[in-house]
Amino acid sequence: MKINENFLKIQSSYLFSNIAKKVNAYTAANPDKPIIRLGIGDVTRPLAGECISAMHRAVDEMADEKTFMGYPPEYGHKWLLEAIRDNDYKARGVDIDISEIFVSDGAKSDCGNIGDIFSQENKVAVCDPVYPVYVDTNVMAGRSGDFVNGGWSNIRYMPCTAENGFLPEIPKEKVDIIYLCFPNNPTGMAITKDELKKWVDYANENSAVILYDSAYEAFITEENVPHSIFEIEGAKTCAIEFRSFSKTAGFTGVRCGYTVIPHELKAGGTELNALWARRQATKFNGVSYITQRAAEACYTEEGKKQIRETIAYYQKNAQVIYNGLKDCGFTVYGAVNSPYVWLKTPGDMGSWEFFDTLLHEIQVVGTPGEGFGPSGEGYFRLTAFGSAENTAKAVERIKNYFGK
Ligand code: MLT
Repeated sequence: MKINENFLKIQSSYLFSNIAKKVNAYTAANPDKPIIRLGIGDVTRPLAGECISAMHRAVDEMADEKTFMGYPPEYGHKWLLEAIRDNDYKARGVDIDISEIFVSDGAKSDCGNIGDIFSQENKVAVCDPVYPVYVDTNVMAGRSGDFVNGGWSNIRYMPCTAENGFLPEIPKEKVDIIYLCFPNNPTGMAITKDELKKWVDYANENSAVILYDSAYEAFITEENVPHSIFEIEGAKTCAIEFRSFSKTAGFTGVRCGYTVIPHELKAGGTELNALWARRQATKFNGVSYITQRAAEACYTEEGKKQIRETIAYYQKNAQVIYNGLKDCGFTVYGAVNSPYVWLKTPGDMGSWEFFDTLLHEIQVVGTPGEGFGPSGEGYFRLTAFGSAENTAKAVERIKNYFGK
């Protein structure tokens, strides 16, 4: 028996597991010091009442022989697919067919699993800093090359720094698979329609595919920022989009998302939609009926209203962090179209050093920028997904410790 040796190449622990271990060790040693967790982007507000009611009804249906259901349809119930099509696409002037939508247990799984349908020979491009799932899953798949000088030899890193406004520059050479996440995790920065059009044109001209993670679209506040890559002309022949109910509707513990693969997206005459359909039918058992009913309830008028209220709550937290840190002299980014605030660490402080200082001195947990890639060094991410009370408290602690 031989193992997949690619697993030996990656760090033994996933970024957020690593942070959780450090925080748990600190808590065990200091049980009297309560921690405020603004690290992993995990929601804290309860589910919308509409979703809860829909789940209760669905449970009752499962309890009755006449309405009980076994395996769900592989790609999602028709009524959920239609609700997604009508509300997330048609309402924005985008024509997507329900056969192009695949309901799943979340964007993380889909972003990781999508690699199954691509050859190992593809050249992958990622933003730097980047959500670690895109890189780690390519390492596991044997697409990364070797780890040299802080990066993978066969992965093209596209630095996103203060100098370029945290927007990646289009590669001069040909790459095959481009991961883009906007509004961005981790920097919280967004891309305009005009800027995204340049990527769509590059991908079409170079027979590349854009894997577009749009998990944070619900936080967009600015007009010229697209919610979907399919709002951009030409995207249907070059893009796959990942969406999630996690951050939109607080489903991190419920688990539901979806992926859109247009029929027009082809490689050598083969539809990628067909490959993903085949992959999912074999390896994925679908999303539970109860969960899909909860997801459907997000699209009722009342559901939309309740969800918007929760998003507004987190958006307010983002402003509290952003303004509080700015007042305190920090250089801060993000927050406007995103639940993430990206800050420059003070002086020459490394991002893990800043993490340790915040944990040990004021018991606030964030995410070190370096954990997202080499260009994240010297930066730090705080999430707006905490409670309003804890968010205000964390900002106060930072202000008191760092001077103002
Ligand atoms: C994050 O903190 O970056 C996200 O919560 C991770 C995720 O959504 O998987």
